Parts: sequence; structure tokens; C-alpha cells
Amino acid sequence: MRKHIVAGNWKMNMTFSEADELLDELMSELEKVTLPRDTQVIVCPPFPYIEMASDYANDSYFTVGAQDVSEHEKGAYTGEVSAAMLESCEIDYCIVGHSERRAYHGETDAQVAAKVDQLLAHNLKPIVCVGEVLEERESGRQQEVVKRQVEGGLFHLDANQIQQVVIAYEPVWAIGTGKTATPDQAQEMHAFIRSLLKEKYGAAVADEISILYGGSCKPSNAKELFSNPDVDGGLIGGASLKAGDFMGIVTSF
Ligand code: 13P
Repeated sequence: MRKHIVAGNWKMNMTFSEADELLDELMSELEKVTLPRDTQVIVCPPFPYIEMASDYANDSYFTVGAQDVSEHEKGAYTGEVSAAMLESCEIDYCIVGHSERRAYHGETDAQVAAKVDQLLAHNLKPIVCVGEVLEERESGRQQEVVKRQVEGGLFHLDANQIQQVVIAYEPVWAIGTGKTATPDQAQEMHAFIRSLLKEKYGAAVADEISILYGGSCKPSNAKELFSNPDVDGGLIGGASLKAGDFMGIVTSF
């Protein structure tokens, strides 16, 4: 059965000492709870803190992810970080296609697909973000947009490869705005994404893929969101920066 996942995307936040403190708090909070065996907690800090996070993760109950990766294997790409580097640091997951990368860095579905390929070639699991902007939802085009992103970023994969992928539905209008998708809106889109996977790869494969919700998810709404049959957890921004809030979400299944 597919995993329940709560992943914290710290984005560009935290100094070294703040990161150290948060990881330390998180570790001791996680030690106090017994999570169901199918629950995976992932922390995605900025690159400079990846190693520190991995050290904490080694004797704790979470695993570490990166926030982005280069679409290239190696070479003269100043400032970029490759999948081979992440693999050599024993990182397990990596976010790709976040709406902030798409909006501020012009990341295309083809680039998302190339990044996914890099990650899979280096034994990392991609967390692939999709989601519509407000204007697309208001004009009723949200499914069309998400279908294009899912197909463009993922449908070149075979049935074995797609099972390594986690999908995160993050409606852009809900990110950092305090405006959360309703549980019904989330379930409807998650079921739609799973139906696309079913059509392409069959029901058995589609049922194995975790689909996370992201966008102003917090302890007060996580339970209701996660209780939907196709919502397998969350990708958490703001609320992942406080151990107490993040733990409130982690324990919401
Ligand atoms: P917020 O939880 O801050 O809305 O961010 C969601 C997000 O973008 C996670 O990747």
C-alpha cells in the first residue's frame, strides 16, 4: 500500500543555528510519538544544511530531501546541484517543479521531466509538484492545467519508474496565502490525478503512488484534508518551520 507522507519544504528560510535548533526539536518530538509504520516524514532544508539534516536523520525518524536539482548530469553549470551529488550525500527525496521554480525560474514541464530522469537515474525519489494558478481555477481550467503538468513531467516514465515518484498537488492560490483548498477540492483533484495514472499505468500502479496536498496546510486543517481517500499526506511550507506545527500535521493521519 502507498505511504502516508508529510514533507516539510523549508524554502529559503533559516540560518544555520536556527536550522540546527529546529532539527534538534523535531528529532526530540519525533522520538516521543509512535507513528504508523506506513508514515514517512521528510525534511527538505536549503542545500547548505543538507548534511546537518542527514546527521540528525541518521538517528531519528525522518528522512532528508532536497528542494531542487539540476536537469544536467554534471559540468559547467555554476550554482547548480546534481542528482549524483545528492546521491553521494545519501539524500532520498527531491522536490521538482515547485510552482515557485516554475513561476520565478521559468521551469517548464520538459525541464521537470529531465530533472525526474536525473533523480531516478541516481536512485532518488522525485516529489513532483503540480497545480493551477487562481485565474486557471476561476476559469475552470484546473484539471486541464494539472493534466498537462502530470503528462509532461511524468508520462515518459515506465510503470516501474512511476512508482518511485511522489506527486504533490499544490494549488498556487493556496501557497503561503492562508487560503487552503477545501477537503472536497483537494480530494477532487487528487482523484483526478489518480485517474490519469490509472488510465496510463493501470489501477494497481496508480494505487501505489502517494499524492500529497500542499498549500496553507496546518495542524488545524490537516486532519480533514488527510481523511480523504486520495490525499496521502502533505507538502508543508510555512508550518514546517515550527517543530510544534509540523508535528501537529505529522500526527494528523
Ligand atoms: P505553504 O504551506 O507555506 O502554503 O507552502 C506550501 C508549499 O509551497 C510547499 O511546497
